[in-house]
Amino acid sequence: MKRDKHEKLMDLAKRRGFIWPSFELYGGVGGFYDFGPLGSVLKEKIIRKWREYYVIREGFFEIDSPSILPEEVLKASGHVDHFIDLMTECQKCGTPFRVVDVIKEVTGEDIEGMPREEVQKFMDEKHVRCPDCGGELGSIFEFNAMFRTMIGPGTKRIGYLRPETAQTIFIDFKRLHRYARGKIPFGIVQIGRGFRNEISPRQGIIRLREFTMAEAEVFFDPQDPHHPKFSNVAGKKIRLWLASDQEKGKTETMEIKAEQAVKNGIVCNELMAYYIVLTKHFLIDLGIPEGAIRFRQQTPGQRAHYSSETWDAEVLTERFGWVEVAGLAYRTDYDLRRHSEFSGEDLSVFLPEERRKVICHVIEPSYGIDRTFYCVLEHSFVQEGNRTYLKLKRELAPIEAGVFPLLNRDGLPEKAITVLESLRLKGFHVEYDESGSIGRRYARADEVGTPYCVTIDHQTLEDDTVTIRDRDTTAQVRVKIEELPKALNLLLREGAALQDVGVPMGL
Ligand code: ATP
Ligand code: GLY
Repeated sequence: MKRDKHEKLMDLAKRRGFIWPSFELYGGVGGFYDFGPLGSVLKEKIIRKWREYYVIREGFFEIDSPSILPEEVLKASGHVDHFIDLMTECQKCGTPFRVVDVIKEVTGEDIEGMPREEVQKFMDEKHVRCPDCGGELGSIFEFNAMFRTMIGPGTKRIGYLRPETAQTIFIDFKRLHRYARGKIPFGIVQIGRGFRNEISPRQGIIRLREFTMAEAEVFFDPQDPHHPKFSNVAGKKIRLWLASDQEKGKTETMEIKAEQAVKNGIVCNELMAYYIVLTKHFLIDLGIPEGAIRFRQQTPGQRAHYSSETWDAEVLTERFGWVEVAGLAYRTDYDLRRHSEFSGEDLSVFLPEERRKVICHVIEPSYGIDRTFYCVLEHSFVQEGNRTYLKLKRELAPIEAGVFPLLNRDGLPEKAITVLESLRLKGFHVEYDESGSIGRRYARADEVGTPYCVTIDHQTLEDDTVTIRDRDTTAQVRVKIEELPKALNLLLREGAALQDVGVPMGL
């Protein structure tokens, strides 16, 4: 049977240590994935890139707080009442379904945001039945997607695994505002696990019950929603799919300059437009082609309870179509106001120059790292003839270089190991491989996206030079061993071209 790209990619991902379904030994549980030795490194590098954008370039402050939240926090945030999905169950086989998903699967229609009263009618009219057994689906009912637990023994203190990392940033607002020296705008980020008890996750790593989020909360004065570096992005184009067009059934997107989108009232303010552009650049930097990125405006019915405007960054994939990898929400003063009300603590700030108090408003870019990870893998998966490789960006590749003896004899392995160890001491993530033909070893390295292979051959024993082979072109250059760390550094971290670091070799 012919396998599609997704199946081939997932086969590679499992076989070569990127990701695989969790708890396989016990039959597996939907919505959980393990990151293997290479997957963990790739994920970490995506997070590193995210920090580069938000912590280093934006100058935001990072916090790290608990994943279990007491109930009062999530009552105040609205999640206890509003973090609800509609579900139904098959009356014959008992399979539970998220209503939006089962309707999409059976009819192809996206009813996200449809008022609850209309959903049951829609299901009846369309005769939506169980996609697994054809049985009748029961009446729809509400399901809160948070994992509930008890804090301490007994049942007195209810807690929930956090559905988003954002809440503790709001709780800590006063301390963080003081840390930011009382200035606004300022941004706080948190990277950590989010937990959602998804009803029937059927999309592999796209819909998990435990996943990694990278969230930024940007606090600002609603009378001044200006980003100090907006002029850097004002002329950049963004591809938008407007809510009004979606409601009319139009699939066309529009390309517009960030500045124009704000001026025309399409995007609510400069801060939102700035982070849309930043998100686009972040995704391109990870290797996602520009043409596979768009920003979908959520319709009013689709928006979370705290948001007055949301743009989803979506990436086009072969298997899952457009996948939301990040949501950018205008949370207004909803969270700080609610936590003020529920805690009795005044969370407004005083603006001395203007002599007025304000509850900060918030723009929230919220990224799902696991979905981003999948999109990076899918977009890097290349098949050319009988060659398969991951064209990962060099700085994302889990293994930076393979070190191989050409043959498994004549002192070449010993020499290769000294090269390997010296590169490791210089901080390179390199791996040694001596099994099978050199061609097979190159192919194995290509398959996991290793951008360079260093080969030790007989000439090495004579003149202390090695070859460096490029994954994408398979071209090779020869360099002196003493120059190797510098050459790899230029290639991996400075974006140098292969021919600039050594003497080209005939193919
Ligand atoms: P969806 O509509 O697909 O359920 P969402 O709108 O609920 O997603 P957000 O609440 O905006 O998602 O969460 C922020 C980001 O977290 C998303 O853009 C996505 O990348 C990620 N995310 C959300 N839910 C999941 C999940 N179940 N599995 C993996 N990632 C998720
Ligand atoms: N913090 C974004 C979300 O949970 O949707």
